[in-house]
Amino acid sequence: MVSTSLPGGTWTLGDLTVTRFGYGAMQLAGPWVMGPPADHGGALAVLRAAVELGITHIDTSEAYGPHVTNQLIREALHPYPDSLHIVTKVGANRDQQGGWPPARDPESLRRSVHENLETLGLDVLDLVNLRLGDAAGPQPGSVAEAFETLVGLQQQGLIRHLGVSNATPEQVAEAQAIAPIVCVQNMYNLAHRQDDELIDALAEEGIAYVPFFPLGGFSPLQSSVLSTVAARLEATPMSVALAWLLRRSPNILLIPGTSSTTHLRENIAGAALPLSDDDLTELDKIGR
Ligand SMILES: NC(=O)c1ccc[n+]([C@@H]2O[C@H](COP(=O)([O-])OP(=O)(O)OC[C@H]3O[C@@H](n4cnc5c(N)ncnc54)[C@H](OP(=O)(O)O)[C@@H]3O)[C@@H](O)[C@H]2O)c1
Repeated sequence: MVSTSLPGGTWTLGDLTVTRFGYGAMQLAGPWVMGPPADHGGALAVLRAAVELGITHIDTSEAYGPHVTNQLIREALHPYPDSLHIVTKVGANRDQQGGWPPARDPESLRRSVHENLETLGLDVLDLVNLRLGDAAGPQPGSVAEAFETLVGLQQQGLIRHLGVSNATPEQVAEAQAIAPIVCVQNMYNLAHRQDDELIDALAEEGIAYVPFFPLGGFSPLQSSVLSTVAARLEATPMSVALAWLLRRSPNILLIPGTSSTTHLRENIAGAALPLSDDDLTELDKIGR
């Protein structure tokens, strides 16, 4: 039974029902997503709190740490409740400098899927996103070989559903021509609106759009308009940013990241903030 008490209710990814308010686990690894967290117990507590609060969608990757967030998720939550769906991604490795070099050749993708299965303690991955582009954002180029490799692993029964991440609209279309996808995970927030058209097109198709960096990621969202609206509503800018995303389109799923149980609770409460049409019109000016 999936809780609908979280702001935004639920969404269906293929045959999986998830809460639209999810949790992004990347911030649980050490600084710059490398190594273990300073507070191991605190990281486990955040994951357990997320599930206790009703969240049924956790976003992760074997590249976070690397291995660290997957291992934390397993330690905190395994055996997983039936309602919980863990979404992972493949297509990038980590290097000694903490960079994210692409790893989209068939052998790397196969290895990464098996590593995700092992570190998460699963026989089947609910949803795997193929991460494209690079740290600078989406880059053009064919996804066919990489996506077909994941389709092959799906046909072997190792993956339930597929998505793409850090993708151009052309790459989304190319993947869809090969096999169904259930989500696109790209950078998007109040100040970065490059995917507005893509979000609307995916909504028509019933496909989820999962914005990463919903709060600005490593550089928190800063905007005088956002601060003004937040002050008027006696709320934090983060609350307004999350509430706006839930209002932006019904196919948007939230995966804000935090290493703090207090922030997790604040974000859930904040996403429920009612925004008037005037607030929305004002906020709309930020990214346009
Ligand atoms: N597909 C991709 O290429 C890709 C790339 C990046 C991220 N992701 C996914 O997207 C998820 C979300 O992105 P993100 O975590 O990088 O960025 P984010 O959600 O935009 O922001 C996270 C940052 O906001 C802070 N924060 C969160 N709630 C707060 C609050 N209530 N008050 C003050 N500060 C708060 C966090 O610090 P505290 O820890 O102190 O709360 C953290 O520094 C990640 O966890 C990951 O799963 C995917």
